[in-house]
Amino acid sequence: MTVPACKERLNLITRSAAQTQAWARGLAALLDRGDILCLVGDLGTGKTCFAQGVGQGLGIVQPIISPTFIRVREYCESPARLPFYHIDLYRLVRGNEALGWGLEEYLYGQGVCAIEWADRIRTLVPPHCLWVQFSHGQAPEVRHISFQAEEGRGEWLLHRFGEGVKNGSIGH
Ligand SMILES: Nc1ncnc2c1ncn2[C@@H]1O[C@H](COP(=O)(O)OP(=O)(O)O)[C@@H](O)[C@H]1O
Ligand SMILES: [Mg+2]
Repeated sequence: MTVPACKERLNLITRSAAQTQAWARGLAALLDRGDILCLVGDLGTGKTCFAQGVGQGLGIVQPIISPTFIRVREYCESPARLPFYHIDLYRLVRGNEALGWGLEEYLYGQGVCAIEWADRIRTLVPPHCLWVQFSHGQAPEVRHISFQAEEGRGEWLLHRFGEGVKNGSIGH
């Protein structure tokens, strides 16, 4: 798994799916049009769980289902605060394939993108993404989540999110 080498990172340990989603909802409150969350990590580490929390935090009321077999699900209905594009590249063989079905329209669109397996298109995503890397912990419900950003909005989100986690306003 490869994510860009970033100056700064925030490492969190979550002990339940509920905790992971609470953090994701907190992050969602900071998101704006054009923001891109690149979710990477092995199967079962919590990428979809996190994306569901982001969707909930944006105000999406319908169930957020993994888009593994269809690559992308769009959630654009009110009362959501912003359109949400949930993308899953698990089945992608070559990165360039993603351009064939309009990935760029989502990346540069009017909503928030959450992209599972984004490391498969590392060269296609813009540098202002927030990278969120998931891995299994020692116990069944423990996950390590590492947030990293290179520049721009990603870096801003990393700072604001980190402040919220530290002062306790994010994570409930
Ligand atoms: N701390 C945790 N954070 C996220 N998911 C967890 C956690 N503990 C257990 N789980 C479970 O692990 C599974 C994660 O699955 P999923 O989010 O689909 O992973 P991925 O999309 O990375 O393949 C879910 O069944 C979830 O309930
Ligand atoms: Mg998934």
